[in-house]
Amino acid sequence: MTLIDPVLLKTRLADLAGRFDVDALDACDSTNSELMRRAERGAPAGSVIVADEQSAGRGRRGRSWLSSAESSLTFSLLWRFSGNAASLSGLSLAVGVGLVRAMDSLGAQGICLKWPNDVLLRSGDGYAKLAGILIELSSDRRGTQAIIGIGLNLLPPTGDLPQPAAGLSQACPHPADRHDVLAAILVHLAAVLDSFASAGFGGLKLEWQRHHAWQDQAVQILGDGEAAKPGRCLGVDADGALLLETAAGVERIFSGDVSLRSA
Ligand code: ATP
Ligand code: BTN
Repeated sequence: MTLIDPVLLKTRLADLAGRFDVDALDACDSTNSELMRRAERGAPAGSVIVADEQSAGRGRRGRSWLSSAESSLTFSLLWRFSGNAASLSGLSLAVGVGLVRAMDSLGAQGICLKWPNDVLLRSGDGYAKLAGILIELSSDRRGTQAIIGIGLNLLPPTGDLPQPAAGLSQACPHPADRHDVLAAILVHLAAVLDSFASAGFGGLKLEWQRHHAWQDQAVQILGDGEAAKPGRCLGVDADGALLLETAAGVERIFSGDVSLRSA
């Protein structure tokens, strides 16, 4: 018996139950990898894999994602878009907006976004990472398929992590049932993904910036083997690029092998 019961989840999804096809697993290597294999075999858009445990959970830039059955929610959603991969550059930010809306609907306080793929919880003077988004795209002549992987800490992680991490339990006044959490996320994701498909990230940009942890603040961009680049973060543009004001002018930074840090 898995921690997510797909039948119970369907009742929580109410009117939107028909848009999702949820499979709950005890364990797998990575829900993104498992869903990718199923997509290659023709899984429909709206397929969701949620796993209690991942033996090889993956984060951005080849990092590992640590999770445990009791403390985490780890799942992936398959979605298809008509455009090419370049037209989806703001997708991870759009997904972040969906996560913020879902957390709001659960009564969570202090939720913020960090470019390009993190959900943070305000904690004292700083922030701790609550959730991460890993999107993997593949295109063919019909369009682009996105595997949207989300790892959410329900409880604060206990392992040794390079950055502070938090759990949803610290943001919510009442403990949230994992079925309610997953249903809220899927419902809000369906809305932002529909909006993204019809109008791109531009229609969600101001909402993203309202929740941006470092809007108009001093930040630095760290790239592998490069000197830190300081600047003031002006927010993001309609393509999801980060706008960094430096002495040389405003630079557009695309999600790549760089990390954003508070200055
Ligand atoms: P970057 O900041 O470079 O964009 P990131 O978003 O992957 O990268 P951070 O948020 O800075 O990373 O740091 C979090 C680090 O901790 C990452 O290496 C991430 O993969 C790792 N991590 C692994 N599991 C968890 C978890 N359950 N909660 C929070 N962080 C985790
Ligand atoms: C990050 O912050 O770097 C992204 C973390 C994404 C983790 C989730 S957990 C479910 C899905 N399966 C994976 O292997 N990764 C994503």
